[in-house]
Amino acid sequence: PPNFQMMEGNSSIGKMNCRAKGAAPGFKVAILGAAGGIGQPLSMLMKMNPLVSVLHLYDVVNTPGVTADISHMDTGAVVRGFLGKDKLDEALTGMDLVIIPAGVPRKPGMTRDDLFKINAGIVKTLCEGIARSCPRAIVNLISNPVNSTVPIAAEVFKQAGMYDPKRLLGVTMLDVVRANTFVAEVLGLDPREVDVPVVGGHAGVTILPLLSQVKPPCSFTPEEINYLTDRIQNGGTEVVEAKAGAGSATLSMAYAAVKFADACLRGLRGDAGVIECSFVTELPFFATKVRLGRSGAEEIFPLGPLNEYERAGLEKAKKELAMSIDKGVSFTRK
Ligand code: NAD
Ligand code: LMR
Repeated sequence: PPNFQMMEGNSSIGKMNCRAKGAAPGFKVAILGAAGGIGQPLSMLMKMNPLVSVLHLYDVVNTPGVTADISHMDTGAVVRGFLGKDKLDEALTGMDLVIIPAGVPRKPGMTRDDLFKINAGIVKTLCEGIARSCPRAIVNLISNPVNSTVPIAAEVFKQAGMYDPKRLLGVTMLDVVRANTFVAEVLGLDPREVDVPVVGGHAGVTILPLLSQVKPPCSFTPEEINYLTDRIQNGGTEVVEAKAGAGSATLSMAYAAVKFADACLRGLRGDAGVIECSFVTELPFFATKVRLGRSGAEEIFPLGPLNEYERAGLEKAKKELAMSIDKGVSFTRK
């Protein structure tokens, strides 16, 4: 049999090094809703992220199994599971970043707003936990309807006296990921080379791709603009219908959530020039390009020049957004 003592080295320093335990340097991240359709692949991908040293997985069901499974991956992050409401504060204490994919998904025929009734309460409870246990954390909110849940989170944080608009970020990255993919298809490019800003919100006409600002610079026919705008705005519904009652986007969402979380962590680390689209709370509530830094969304970029088609889209988006924002804000004031 192999001589394990020899393999560990004979000096006491060698032994200490071999057996050294504890988290590598990095950030502490909690996922709330970690056992769900998004939560599971998101947890797996965050366990693979070298910027994460500690990963807390919280859900009201099934966290022990998901945690045991993911903890066997031989990557750096230390994984801990937390099951049930009593464990929420423990799961959140000390976290640098909290990602929230908790809540029910759509079925065919539903709008995201139809999820409000159940998800508003879930988001409120989870944000109250954040206010108590990690008020300085960056929050990435995924739960739908994002156009209303982010205003709910902002109100909860205001009422708790710890609201920092830089730290509360609605995740609209899936719209950007879809836009990059669909535009690349039309242009015959590799999607990794394409960058499409998507602004506004995260539902139907509030999702506003700025096709006039695509990088690399390119032009589209009116038919291509209609096709792309419609496909990007209805990408979520395309997946809901294809899943035929089994939920909404989970895998592409987990990918998009990790892309966004990784950008937040690079910002926290102090990397320069980290720019992504996100639903922020200062305009008030609008998705736009932001620069992510040590304290969250440190700079909010203007929309830039819009063409007539985009200006008309913006007016429609603003009207619907205003209603969703009001709905979220009034929910917390009842
Ligand atoms: P899912 O039902 O598969 O998983 C949701 C998880 O949340 C479940 O494990 C459930 O137990 C958990 N949960 C419920 N109440 C909770 C609570 N109080 N605390 C902690 N966890 C709780 O759903 P899913 O497919 O993972 O989708 C989750 C949410 O994300 C939905 O609201 C969906 O609409 C939304 N979503 C948003 C985007 C986006 O782009 N922002 C994309 C896809 C889905
Ligand atoms: C999406 O865009 O895929 C999500 O918002 C889920 C949904 O209900 O469409």
